[in-house]
Amino acid sequence: MIENEMDFEGRLSAPEYIEGDNEIENSLRPKQLSDYIGQVKAKENLSVYIQAAKLRNEPLDHVLLYGPPGLGKTTLAGIVANELGVNLRITSGPAIEKQGDLVAILSNLENGDVLFIDEIHRLNRTVEEILYPAMEDGKIDIIIGKGPSARSFQLSLPKFTLIGATTRAGQISAPLRDRFGVILRLEMYTNEELAEIVKRSSKILNIPLDDDGAAIIASRSRGTPRIANRLLKRSRDFAEVKYEGIINKNAANEALSSMDIDELGLDTIDRRLLSTMIKNYNGGPVGLETISAAIGEESVTIEDVYEPYLMQIGFLARTPRGRCVTPAGYKHLGIEFNPDNNSIQQKLDL
Ligand code: ADE
Repeated sequence: MIENEMDFEGRLSAPEYIEGDNEIENSLRPKQLSDYIGQVKAKENLSVYIQAAKLRNEPLDHVLLYGPPGLGKTTLAGIVANELGVNLRITSGPAIEKQGDLVAILSNLENGDVLFIDEIHRLNRTVEEILYPAMEDGKIDIIIGKGPSARSFQLSLPKFTLIGATTRAGQISAPLRDRFGVILRLEMYTNEELAEIVKRSSKILNIPLDDDGAAIIASRSRGTPRIANRLLKRSRDFAEVKYEGIINKNAANEALSSMDIDELGLDTIDRRLLSTMIKNYNGGPVGLETISAAIGEESVTIEDVYEPYLMQIGFLARTPRGRCVTPAGYKHLGIEFNPDNNSIQQKLDL
């Protein structure tokens, strides 16, 4: 059971949630580990931990999932709850403003429930402090009143499993991180895995998708299932209107070019980021805040959403002095790379 799903705004090829997409997105989420494609290592480990918890009739240990957005953290939390046969409660770090908000969520859990906190690195410190004894001893300390008349008492909680998700494991405080028994890193998906995912989704959406169509969508999805499924839905529109209801090579290509997504999955903002760095800053090194101001995107969005993929495909490098566009990044934009001016090695040596 999924409750309190949150909406986020986002660009078309961004992995964030887009309002209105949630219902379909939920229908595409696999409900069992055996239907979940990719993340082989995380899946194997989780499968053992889930079976062991069931054998012992105990709740699963707390799990921290980390990695770039859109890789299936919420989906995995749903699968864990489903496989354990318990409820899934969903919330997020920024949604829990006060200690009382978290106390209310925790005290309403049922025995064995999974509580999923997305963007857990954004919990504020005072709220986080409630979590420590809750995770460790299943208790929370509540203080009522102020000054000399303040009284404190302890509330025992039902047993629960916290699944925390973050794009940035490094931003989680050490005391919180230490209380997770399982820490799993999610990786970007291969094109083969993404093709399998969109084939599975096309069956659920009841739209024929041929191998060429699947390969094109997969190769332009930036290693991210959420983007792959979104591109699938837009390709379906073109297929239904112009290609007799089949997502083939032409339908997929037309959908992608209508969204200005190029053959590697880069959109206008990715390309603007790289070309601004080249034209205004000679390809770098240039600081994150400078790039952010130059292209008008928040620095956290650049770090979490754009950079991981640009680095993964080798178009951007992080150096101690700032970000640099690589020769491959120049080539992709059709801009000449002059090794005398632009040697990354030279920049690193400066
Ligand atoms: N839909 C979204 N992510 C998925 C995954 N990893 N496996 C199968 N279907 C998915």
